[in-house]
Amino acid sequence: MSGLASLNFKYKPKGLPMYQALYQQIRDQILGGYLPPGARLPSSRNLAAEMACSRGSVERAYELLAAEGFITATGAAGTCVNPELDQQLIASGVAGASTDKLSKPTDPIMETSTRPLQLGVPALDAFPRKLWNRLINRNARSLSADQLGSNSPFGYPPLRQAIANYLAISRGVVCEPHQIFITSGFQGALTVIAQTLGQPGEQVWCEDPGYFRARNCFQQLGFSIEPVPVDQDGMCISEGIKKAPTAKFAMVTPTHQSPLGVTLSLKRRMELLQWAESSGSWIIEDDYDSEFRYGGKPLPALKSLDGHNRVIYTGSFSKVLIPSLKLGYIVVPNELQASFEQSFSSLWAVGSLLDQKVVTEFMVNGHFSLHIKKMRKLYGERRAALANSLEKQLPDELSISLQAGGMHLIGELLNTTNEKLLLQKARELGIEPHPLSKFQINAQQPPALLLSFTNVEVASAESVVEKLAQAILASQ
Ligand SMILES: Cc1ncc(COP(=O)(O)O)c(C=O)c1O
Repeated sequence: MSGLASLNFKYKPKGLPMYQALYQQIRDQILGGYLPPGARLPSSRNLAAEMACSRGSVERAYELLAAEGFITATGAAGTCVNPELDQQLIASGVAGASTDKLSKPTDPIMETSTRPLQLGVPALDAFPRKLWNRLINRNARSLSADQLGSNSPFGYPPLRQAIANYLAISRGVVCEPHQIFITSGFQGALTVIAQTLGQPGEQVWCEDPGYFRARNCFQQLGFSIEPVPVDQDGMCISEGIKKAPTAKFAMVTPTHQSPLGVTLSLKRRMELLQWAESSGSWIIEDDYDSEFRYGGKPLPALKSLDGHNRVIYTGSFSKVLIPSLKLGYIVVPNELQASFEQSFSSLWAVGSLLDQKVVTEFMVNGHFSLHIKKMRKLYGERRAALANSLEKQLPDELSISLQAGGMHLIGELLNTTNEKLLLQKARELGIEPHPLSKFQINAQQPPALLLSFTNVEVASAESVVEKLAQAILASQ
């Protein structure tokens, strides 16, 4: 580890809280390569004395930087720039998003009618709604007359920059902001990708079981769906090659397969990339909830291995923030930039500018990483509580499998049940389990329920499982 780093601070911009100024300047110095991986940072006490600010401001700045993976605490040795930060990434200069003023994060306050166990909805009770509302108000007030009248069809430039920064640090995807296009959620992304690169009638590999909305989208656009089985190593690439060797697209959820939760093995990742390269096909990587992993290191995206530029990466803010935003993005290879610019200009599929500005401020000011970190902890607790209650109350009815990541558990139904009746009874009782069958095309897994833990508070896990037990028993 190198010696104590010397920090080079500019004056604090007027109106910016001290911790925010510190956070931004340290971050920029890391990304600019001035603070190399392993460089030791001053203690919070010393830096506070040097900057004539409170120790709390330094601690808060360090907390934000640690949440984003820029720095790590190394016990007695103090705080240092994350030694595992990729030098290449730093040298690529992905830094540079500008920042605005920021409000203090507040306690979560949101009341919600989302039903316990409902799939795909993040913990709405823990969303920092006060802060969010403040950002909406401030950004709405600051919209210029020009901004009221127009909106870049490719996305708000500072948001494209903020996403590039985030992907480089968190997902191992190094790209330029011009490769990123903002979309109206994942559905919006798929529509533009299909229309830019494909033709109706062409084949699409879809995971089986797999996310039904994705295949619905391709189906509605006139593509031919080719179900490809999924096993414990993810999509079976050799099966896809056997069935549809010249398919135009392969749609995959490599980090955390939707809905089985398995990870696409490295061998399969390489097979998939090789196939796409040799057949001139495109891989659509759906990285929808990779932020939530409860053991081991987060896995880098498939895109990070894409030496031949065959992967179109898609991300969504639906799981990490809120689904009602319907905001997502794609990352396209450089050589496709012009084609996508043309499509986005004619389709104008971008999301609302106000929402984009709010998300930008949330990201750039460090709230995004902190929110993900908090949700990861909360979901870890809720996941454990739900699994314990299920194992305690329903040991003879459900066999629970815990995946390393994601937002739901899978409970295999051990006895014969009438699925329709079970779901109807559950709804009457105010809970919303989801059947695995809805994701299957030809796949023949045993009957199972997908049970989301994100909106089941630890204290209510027992009562939610009691209702589930009633629904299961009533359907046998
Ligand atoms: C597998 C999968 N991909 C992507 C998404 C995100 O979709 P959208 O951005 O349209 O909300 C979801 C949301 O539930 C999902 O389950």
